[in-house]
Amino acid sequence: MSVTRRQILTGVAGLAVVGVTAGGLGRYWLGRSDPEVGHDYQLIAAPLDVELVPGHTTQAWAFGPSAPGTELRARQGDWLRVRFINRLPVETTIHWHGIRLPLEMDGVPYVSQLPVKPGEFFDYRFRVPDAGSYWYHPHVASSEELGRGLVGPLIIEEREPTGFAHERTVSLKNWHVDEQGAFLPFSIAREAARNGTLGRLSSVNGVHLGVVDLPAGEVVRVRLLNLDNTATYRINLRGQFEARIYALDGNPIEPRDLDKEYWLGPGMRIDLAIRAPAAGEVIALRDGPVRLGTFRVVAPVEHSATTRDWPPALPANPVSEPDLSNAEKLNFNFEWVGSVSVDTDNGRPPSLWQINGQAWDITDKTCADRPIARLVKGNSYILELKNMTQYQHPIHLHGMSFKVIASNRHEVIPYFTDTYLLGRNERAQVALVADNPGTWMFHCHVIDHMETGLMAAIEVA
Ligand code: C2O
Ligand code: CU
Ligand code: CU
Repeated sequence: MSVTRRQILTGVAGLAVVGVTAGGLGRYWLGRSDPEVGHDYQLIAAPLDVELVPGHTTQAWAFGPSAPGTELRARQGDWLRVRFINRLPVETTIHWHGIRLPLEMDGVPYVSQLPVKPGEFFDYRFRVPDAGSYWYHPHVASSEELGRGLVGPLIIEEREPTGFAHERTVSLKNWHVDEQGAFLPFSIAREAARNGTLGRLSSVNGVHLGVVDLPAGEVVRVRLLNLDNTATYRINLRGQFEARIYALDGNPIEPRDLDKEYWLGPGMRIDLAIRAPAAGEVIALRDGPVRLGTFRVVAPVEHSATTRDWPPALPANPVSEPDLSNAEKLNFNFEWVGSVSVDTDNGRPPSLWQINGQAWDITDKTCADRPIARLVKGNSYILELKNMTQYQHPIHLHGMSFKVIASNRHEVIPYFTDTYLLGRNERAQVALVADNPGTWMFHCHVIDHMETGLMAAIEVA
C-alpha cells in the first residue's frame, strides 16, 4: 500500500492532515468525515517558483505546492468535494477531465459556470462514478494556464482492492521554457496551424529526466498521464522488465502486453503493470528514442509474497453500452483551414481549424449556444470521426465516455475512453449512449488547435 493511500485512509478515520508532503507531492488533505468542513480538499491555485532548469527559476502557476499540482484522490462512487481558491492574477476554472459529472461541475466558462476571478473561490462537488486515472485543468486561457503548470492528477480508486499493492503516478509534461527557464510563447500561429506549439523541456512529475522508484521484484501499477498541451508521447520502455496494459484513459481493458510503442496523446492516460527487475536495475521511460525519465529499481521496504503475480483485469466502469443496431450515425469532419495569412494583432487567435465547417471562437462567449449536434437523452449514437487533415488530433468529449469501435487505419479492440487519438487522415467510429444531459465540449486536446477552432459543443437533452 502506498504512502499516499495510507494518508487517505488516515483522513477517512477523521484525522485532519493539512499540507503534508508525500513523495514530493504536497497534499491538502482535510478530514473527509467532518461534515462541518464541507470539502475534502482545499485546492489553491497560485504562482509558484519552480526550478525546471538547474540554477534558474521559472515562474509557474500551480495547484498546490507543486507543478503538476496536488494529486487528488477519491473512491469510486463517493463524492469529491474540492474548495478551489483562485490566488492567480487571472480568472480560471477547473475542468475534471474524463469524469462523468453534472454540467454545473464541468468547469467550462460561460457554459458550466462563470470564471473564478482572482481572490474568489468555487466549491466543486460531484460523485465520481468511474475508477481510474484522470486529471484536472482550467478551461480558460488554456494555452497559458496549462502551459504555466495548472494541471494535476486525479485518481479514482476502485471500491474493492485490485490486487495491486504498489502504484505510482507519472505525470508527463513539456515546458515552454528557454535555457534560463523563462517562458516562451505557449502558442505560435505557425505552429498552431501544424502539430501545435511544442514545449522544449520534457518533465516527469515536474522534473526534467525525473526518476521514479519501483520496488524490486514486485508488480507495480504505473499510471502514465499525458498532461501536456501538445506532445503525443510515443511511450516505450527499455530495460529488463515485463509490462502489461491494464487501462486506457481510466477505463480497464483485458490486460495485454505493452508492445513496441503506445502513442499517448495530450490528455490521455495509460495504466501499466510493470514487474520490476532486481534492485539496482533501471528502466528507461522513453518517447520514441528520447528518454523522458527513469524507473529506478530499489529494494522493497515491505516485501509481500503475494504481489509478484499479475493482478486480474480491473473491474469495468459502469458506462452504458451503446445499442449499435439502433444507433443514429453522426458525422464529424475535422478540417484544416489554416492559411496563415492571419491577422493576429486584433487580440483574437487565428481561425485555423473547423469541425463540420464551423470554427469555435474562444473570444465569443455565445458559441455554445450553437451546438454542432443535438442528441436525444437516452439514445445511442455512432460518431463517425473523419480527420481531413495532415495532423493528428486527440479528440475529447466532456461529460460522457464513448466506445471506440472501428478505424480504417488499424484493428480496434473496442474500449471505452474520453479521448481518441485520431491519426492523420484517419476515419474512426466511436459510439455512446447520450445519457448525461447538458452542453458538452467536444474538442481536440492539442490546446492550440482547440483555441484556434477545433472545438464544438454537443447538446444532450
Ligand atoms: Cu481535458 Cu475540455 O478538456
Ligand atoms: Cu475534458
Ligand atoms: Cu488537433
